[in-house]
Amino acid sequence: MSINRRQALTQIIGISTAAAGATLLGTSAFAATDADGNYRLELGEKLKYAPLDAMATAKLAYETGGGCMHQVFHAIVTMLAASDSADASKFATIPTALAGYGWAGVVGQGTLCGNLNAAGMLINILDDINGQNSSIIGASFRYYETEDLPLSSAEFVAGIGSTDEKSLEVGATSIANSPLCHSSISNWSAASGKEFALKGERCKRLSASMAYYIVELLNRAYAGEDISLLAIAKPSTEAQACQSCHGVSSTMGSAASVKTDMECTTCHTGHFN
Ligand code: HEC
Ligand code: HEC
Repeated sequence: MSINRRQALTQIIGISTAAAGATLLGTSAFAATDADGNYRLELGEKLKYAPLDAMATAKLAYETGGGCMHQVFHAIVTMLAASDSADASKFATIPTALAGYGWAGVVGQGTLCGNLNAAGMLINILDDINGQNSSIIGASFRYYETEDLPLSSAEFVAGIGSTDEKSLEVGATSIANSPLCHSSISNWSAASGKEFALKGERCKRLSASMAYYIVELLNRAYAGEDISLLAIAKPSTEAQACQSCHGVSSTMGSAASVKTDMECTTCHTGHFN
């Protein structure tokens, strides 16, 4: 007879299943299970990261359908499910299909890019990686804002299994200037002369690029690098200056409080110039 963790605990400490359930509710030390005793991720629970092959993850993201958020979330979770992580079998239970809502900036609304939505969804359930988890999120967002994407070196294109012929469909690389799907797509359209409807290859490569970068950051943090020291992990110098008066817990005079690390001046002109 096999027993699940909750039953085992009940036997060890000699309390009823109902009492054990009540005791465990809200703790993350013990994973939640469904009615059949199967593992199910519990709110607040964290799973252990293990280093992945960034290019293999990027290739899987490129080959995975279902929109950008699903591409990135599914690829990294699938790689973790096959990794050396002590939690590999737990990663395997995660229904990555839920990430399908993230396409085109949340079900077509052109707001938060699905690649970044996926980074948040993933890193939020990862156990602490040398204190770097929030810096990895920040670096992913800033990289997406400022980098000329998708990655287009011959090595990367071959690495994800794409071709030079397919590169013609991308047309041009571009800088999003914002974590928004809208600005990413429209700046690409301005650079390439192509419409949103033709974004297929470009956005698949963008997801591959972001999966690559996110995994690289995770690996580097795992290896002990202090990601928080990198400029890319912080808001720009200009945004930090805005934040010095538009703070989170205190503000200068009547200045409104601001909680964002986005580049302020893409949307605001600023007011001291
Ligand atoms: C030296 C402190 C200080 C800095 C730096 C600062 N602000 Fe402000 N900001 C204020 C104060 C005080 C107000 C409210 C009074 C006012 O309207 O002038 C304000 C108001 C605003 C407003 C409301 C509308 C307006 O223009 O009055 C916006 C938007 C704004 N700031 C954006 C920014 C951005 C973007 C930056 C960085 C480029 C920035 N602020 C930097 C102090 C600052
Ligand atoms: C993606 C666009 C975007 C970015 C980036 C952005 N904001 Fe805003 N912000 C807005 C919008 C939209 C409003 C609401 C404006 C309105 O209601 O007229 C707003 C409101 C504000 C207000 C209150 C406006 C008022 O009239 O009092 C302040 C202050 C402000 N933002 C500062 C900042 C600062 C500082 C940053 C960077 C750290 C920033 N914003 C980044 C879009 C943005």
